Amino acid sequence: MEKKMLKTGYFILLLSCFALQLDANPGLKVRITQKGLDYGWKVGLENIKQEIQNETFQSWSDRENFGLVKFDYTVSGLRMNTVEFPDASVSLIPGTGIKLAIEHASATFHANWSIKTWLVRNHGGATVSLSGVFITVIFQVSRDNKGRLSMLFHNCRLSIHDVKVKLSGGASWVFNLFAGYLKKPIQAYLDKNLCPKIKHKIQRMDAELRTLKVLSQIDAFAQIDYSLINSPAISKTYINLDLKGTVYPAGNRTDPPFVPDPFTLPDKNNSMLYLGVSEYFFKSASLAYYNAGAFNITITKEFSTYFMPTEVTPNSTIPEVLQLVQNYTMSHPLMLTLQSTAAPMISLQTSSLTTEITGYLEMFSVLPNSSLQFIFAGNLTVNTSANMTISKQKLIISLLLKRFHFSLTSSGVDFSEISLLENFLSCVLWNGAIPAINDKLRKGFPLPNQAQTKFIQPVLEFNQGYLLISTDIHYTL
Ligand SMILES: *[C@@H]1O[C@H](CO)[C@@H](O)[C@H](O)[C@H]1NC(C)=O
Ligand SMILES: *[C@@H]1O[C@H](CO)[C@@H](O)[C@H](O)[C@H]1NC(C)=O
Ligand SMILES: *[C@@H]1O[C@H](CO)[C@@H](O)[C@H](O)[C@H]1NC(C)=O
Ligand SMILES: *[C@@H]1O[C@H](CO)[C@@H](O)[C@H](O)[C@H]1NC(C)=O
Ligand SMILES: *[C@@H]1O[C@H](CO)[C@@H](O)[C@H](O)[C@H]1NC(C)=O
Ligand SMILES: *[C@@H]1O[C@H](CO)[C@@H](O)[C@H](O)[C@H]1NC(C)=O
Ligand SMILES: *[C@@H]1O[C@H](CO)[C@@H](O)[C@H](O)[C@H]1NC(C)=O
Ligand SMILES: *[C@@H]1O[C@H](CO)[C@@H](O)[C@H](O)[C@H]1NC(C)=O
Ligand SMILES: *[C@@H]1O[C@H](CO)[C@@H](O)[C@H](O)[C@H]1NC(C)=O
Ligand SMILES: *[C@@H]1O[C@H](CO)[C@@H](O)[C@H](O)[C@H]1NC(C)=O
Ligand SMILES: *[C@@H]1O[C@H](CO)[C@@H](O)[C@H](O)[C@H]1NC(C)=O
Repeated sequence: MEKKMLKTGYFILLLSCFALQLDANPGLKVRITQKGLDYGWKVGLENIKQEIQNETFQSWSDRENFGLVKFDYTVSGLRMNTVEFPDASVSLIPGTGIKLAIEHASATFHANWSIKTWLVRNHGGATVSLSGVFITVIFQVSRDNKGRLSMLFHNCRLSIHDVKVKLSGGASWVFNLFAGYLKKPIQAYLDKNLCPKIKHKIQRMDAELRTLKVLSQIDAFAQIDYSLINSPAISKTYINLDLKGTVYPAGNRTDPPFVPDPFTLPDKNNSMLYLGVSEYFFKSASLAYYNAGAFNITITKEFSTYFMPTEVTPNSTIPEVLQLVQNYTMSHPLMLTLQSTAAPMISLQTSSLTTEITGYLEMFSVLPNSSLQFIFAGNLTVNTSANMTISKQKLIISLLLKRFHFSLTSSGVDFSEISLLENFLSCVLWNGAIPAINDKLRKGFPLPNQAQTKFIQPVLEFNQGYLLISTDIHYTL
């Protein structure tokens, strides 16, 4: 009885360990669909074609018996002439990896040959045609211990139905008979070398994947962690990748004091690539930028540049505001300082991303002798919505002023009417503070992708708790 309880205890312990692991939700999700794989394989085949075309094969020599006659031969300068892949496909093996298949492929090669018997020596050119070539390659897709994507060669099968050799040069019938004898070693050569070459190629791609950095520097302020938090999930129609998706202040990889909420990408597969960007990602970005001081700003601008009509402050109230401040500042340049007092709050709704920035704002007038004349100061809360666009594989956020709340703590100006102060502030925020913050965000957040890929017509869509980016891709070799 006691033993049984003990076992149950272990079992529960084990389960809870499991549960702990499952607790780690991704901040970013990436889905590569069948359409994406088809495209990738098409590009890959082009690359393979070029590579075989560039390849110089080793020459080889051997000895064969031709009836009673022994002869030594050398095949050299083997080069591919044409290659056709009429049926090529890529498919997913759920839970394992990716299967590449090439069927009914054909190719022709040119080579030089020379033979030597005790009687004759001769040499010439040859055309080798292969047809009915079938290759299947399976590789596993997984995650290495540093959280990078990895490809492991699993197996390769090759069959070549027909090899034809045609000689030119030493034209006698002897040599054309001899052509028949070359088929066997050529077939053996391909059987021996093709799969190992493919294996080597996959290993090279894996090595390349492992040089990709999981940390991506955004700008002087922040970096993103793109490491995989668990193995890729491979289903029949897509591969899902769960990435950490945390934004850290540059040089400080302390995790933020909150964790991602779980979210699921919709069951879509008509784009090549889907990216789900969670609220957590934006929250960690907000915290990182706050810690790095990106929301502490000081700007000094010419007086007039602040007082342009804005969406919030209509034309009609500007002259009044201008006059009031002008009476006090004599149109000297204005200096604004904003010190954020908490990381901006982020909320991702079904139609937009909104932020709330809180801080302490001070306004000064810069006198001709460079000393500062205090105008007013107070606590500020700004609500903005975020306009998001994708440009050059980066997510670019720019804030739009929606509302603000200001409580004056001290003032050198007599704002007899509070609306005057509000209009003044509206101009200052709209034309000063928000553009300054947007300037810092302008570099954008690099989205997970490879150097040579380009997003084609990405579409952004807000969902509860995450932003969905659907896109096709273009790859340049
Ligand atoms: C997309 O998914 C549906 C089922 O969800 C499937 O029938 C269809 O074949 C898939 N399309 C592609 C291109 O994989
Ligand atoms: C093939 O060779 C050409 C010319 O030398 C080169 O430009 C090209 O990059 C090579 N392609 C591959 C896939 O190696
Ligand atoms: C093949 O033979 C021809 C004629 O002998 C020669 O010009 C050519 O360089 C040879 N090619 C190679 C790759 O050895
Ligand atoms: C790193 O950031 C955390 C909060 O995210 C902060 O508590 C810690 O002091 C920072 N460490 C350094 C060395 O800046
Ligand atoms: C930003 O301003 C706040 C409030 O004055 C201050 O506590 C914080 O240290 C500043 N951050 C940086 C990085 O300068
Ligand atoms: C705003 O006022 C300026 C001159 O003060 C005028 O030229 C402009 O047309 C006005 N704009 C609107 C939208 O009323
Ligand atoms: C600005 O000064 C002028 C003259 O000194 C005065 O008439 C006007 O009321 C002042 N405007 C404001 C908004 O205080
Ligand atoms: C700068 O000029 C103002 C007014 O013109 C004056 O009150 C102030 O003392 C001057 N400051 C310095 C440091 O000279
Ligand atoms: C600003 O945003 C916060 C958080 O989203 C919200 O609670 C608050 O009501 C908003 N304030 C205004 C003035 O809209
Ligand atoms: C959002 O950004 C795009 C591109 O920068 C711009 O064309 C558009 O006008 C912006 N929308 C708003 C509401 O500012
Ligand atoms: C301004 O904010 C500080 C805390 O950041 C608070 O102590 C103070 O009472 C606030 N002042 C006003 C006028 O709201």
